[in-house]
Order: sequence, then C-alpha cells, then structure tokens
Amino acid sequence: MVELGKSHFPIDLGVLTAIRQLTPQGSTIVELGSGNGTNRLTKEFKVYSIEDDKKWIGYCEDSNYIHAPLVEISEEKDSPLWYDVETISAQIPEDYDLVLVDGPSGKKGRSGLLANLEIFRKDVPFVIDDTLREHECHVAREMAYLLDRPLYVFWNFSIIAPDFLPVEKIARIQKAALQVLESEEDGYLKSYFSIPKPIVERDLEQLDSIISELNQKRLDVASLEASQRKLELIEKSFSLRLGRFLTYPLRILSIFKK
Ligand SMILES: C[S@@+](CC[C@H](N)C(=O)[O-])C[C@H]1O[C@@H](n2cnc3c(N)ncnc32)[C@H](O)[C@@H]1O
Repeated sequence: MVELGKSHFPIDLGVLTAIRQLTPQGSTIVELGSGNGTNRLTKEFKVYSIEDDKKWIGYCEDSNYIHAPLVEISEEKDSPLWYDVETISAQIPEDYDLVLVDGPSGKKGRSGLLANLEIFRKDVPFVIDDTLREHECHVAREMAYLLDRPLYVFWNFSIIAPDFLPVEKIARIQKAALQVLESEEDGYLKSYFSIPKPIVERDLEQLDSIISELNQKRLDVASLEASQRKLELIEKSFSLRLGRFLTYPLRILSIFKK
C-alpha cells in the first residue's frame, strides 16, 4: 500500500456520509479500530470503540473503549489474529445501530471477523472501510454471503444493510465518495486500480439533480400522506359524527323536498 502525504487511517467524508445516511444522529455505533476519525464520530453519535492497541485506547475522550487484544482465532497453524471475542462479548452494549469495520489495522488483517460474525447484531448495517484493498474486499464479500444480503460497493468502502437502500441515500453516499476520490493523488489510486482514471466523465452536478429530484418526490409523498392522515382523522372525529347526527333530520327532509 502506498501512503502519499494524506493519511488514510481515519474515516473519510464518504464513510461518514454513509454512516449519516444509515443511522440518525445520536444513535449508537460500534467501531472496530479507533483513531483520529473516532473524534468525528463522537460529535454526532454515541461510540463504542473496539481497539487492540493500548496506544490508541482513550485517544478520543468521548468514545467508550473496549480494549480487546488480538488473539489467534483458532488453534490451527497460522491462524489469523483477531480481537479477543470474550472481551468484546462481555463489554459490547446490547443495543447499537451500526457497526463500522475499520480494524484491526490492515497489516494485522480482518478475516477473523468472518469466524466471529455471530457476536454482532444481524439487524444493523455494517460499513466496511478500505474495501479498495483486496483483503478487505474479500472480507466484505464473504460477510455479504454469510448474511444473505447484497453488498453495496463504493470506490473505497462498502455497505451491507438489513434493508434495501433507497436510491436517494445511495446517490448522497456516492456523491461524498466521489468528492473524496477527486482529492486523491494519482499515485495512491494507481496502487489500487490498474486504470486510475474513470472512462466516463464524472458528473457531480448530475448526482446533485438526481438527489434533489428524489428528495422533492419524497417530500411530496410525505406531505400527501400527512394530508391523507389529517383527512382520516377529521373523518373519524367526534365533532364530524355529531354534526352528521344533528343534521340527519334536515338531510332526510331535503331528500323528501326534492
Ligand atoms: C484504520 S485504523 C482505524 C481508524 C479509525 N476508525 C479512524 O477513523 O480514525 C486501524 C487501526 O490502526 C491504528 N491506528 C489508528 N489511527 C492510526 C494512525 N493515524 N496511524 C497508525 N495507526 C493508526 C489503530 O490501532 C486502529 O485500530
């Protein structure tokens, strides 16, 4: 992996946008692997950080750290290392809304997650960072297989969600991901993509108009539904029924008059 200038350790705007689209502010995130980016998350969410390296424990004062050292996941020869499952199971909260997979560090590997997926809730989305790397991409693919769900792949991260994602959310996430991509140096991209330049013209404005069109449609539907609900309430309301009851003789009379 080539690291030029910019650090790719912390989560970027694309990943942050994905998290924002998948879960509302104030919800609870379980993060595998902590760092600078944890500070961004704690501004908007309640965060539990599972971290193996003592050096990074407590780095973000607003996160709830679970120090889970790396251990071999089985007794087999060359078994991969992963966080100590008993430590996680004892300290992870029962309720949380999203899992961010961003650790252990790339060098240590993340395949241990596959053997231990059952310790996490299955009804929450997973955001898997760094899936531009083959190892992380492989882990994400197998997770999608194990969970029987589609894998949404953006250029450097992926999502597995319990519900199908609405197009508007996908477009918002893609826009943020492309903004990050535009700021990357060619040297960095060349280390992951055989052809670093896309073959189509990147059109963020088109994405913007798709987003605002879908947003408007969603608002229209919401306001139509709200008006329908109001009408139903009025229909059912006591005063309307009372009014109908009181005017019943008059309405009958008017029929006879006709
Ligand atoms: C990709 S980092 C996790 C980054 C974190 N989610 C964030 O957004 O900042 C994976 C692991 O590398 C270590 N780490 C975090 N930030 C680092 C940095 N800036 N340089 C080197 N190692 C880092 C920590 O042990 C962490 O668990």
